[in-house]
Amino acid sequence: MYDVQSKDGKEWFYTDEVKDHFFNPKNLLKTREEAEQCAKQASGIGEEGSPACGDLMKMWIKVKDNKIIECKWQTFGCASAIASTSMFSEMVKGMKIEKALAIKPQDISKELGGLPARKFHCSVLADKALRAAVNDHYKKTNQLDKIKEDKVKIIDKILKITDHDIEEAVLEGVRTFEELQKRTKIGVQDKTCIPEAEQLLRFYLEKYFNKKQ
Ligand code: FES
Repeated sequence: MYDVQSKDGKEWFYTDEVKDHFFNPKNLLKTREEAEQCAKQASGIGEEGSPACGDLMKMWIKVKDNKIIECKWQTFGCASAIASTSMFSEMVKGMKIEKALAIKPQDISKELGGLPARKFHCSVLADKALRAAVNDHYKKTNQLDKIKEDKVKIIDKILKITDHDIEEAVLEGVRTFEELQKRTKIGVQDKTCIPEAEQLLRFYLEKYFNKKQ
């Protein structure tokens, strides 16, 4: 098993684990009938799109005694998204909601023996779709105080660059402020936003890659 973070995005081969989950995805809803049936029994349904590639993920969960007993999904995403969501849907089974929500994309990637760096953002879809499905479950069961929405915040007021844009940039390979600025032009005109942008960059690098800048 190799280190996810050592991968440079030039690797052309998926690991055996990725290939196995891609060719035999677990908990995938394959037909409209299956999806409709699942929707009737689901405790929560969530959807998430990737700004990086435009792909979509939909997730259905069944919850009992605060534990996820079933996690089904569909996606328009690529092989990495299919493999990582398949793995994720197995990992969360039987877990308490809070524990499942604490699973990070790098945990999924590790279980898969690594993903190419450029495909890391694909594994974030599952994680975010689960958050949306859990929020839906909390809404349906009137546990409104537990809902956590991922609100967008504008950081660069002139170019309207948001915290999500910084997050996406990190998932797409940005590692330094110079790289971030080159890619987004953040702080070029609105210089007052630079300290906050740097702080967010550090936050996302640590969140996804355990990297301290
Ligand atoms: S999910 Fe869109 S490229 Fe992988």
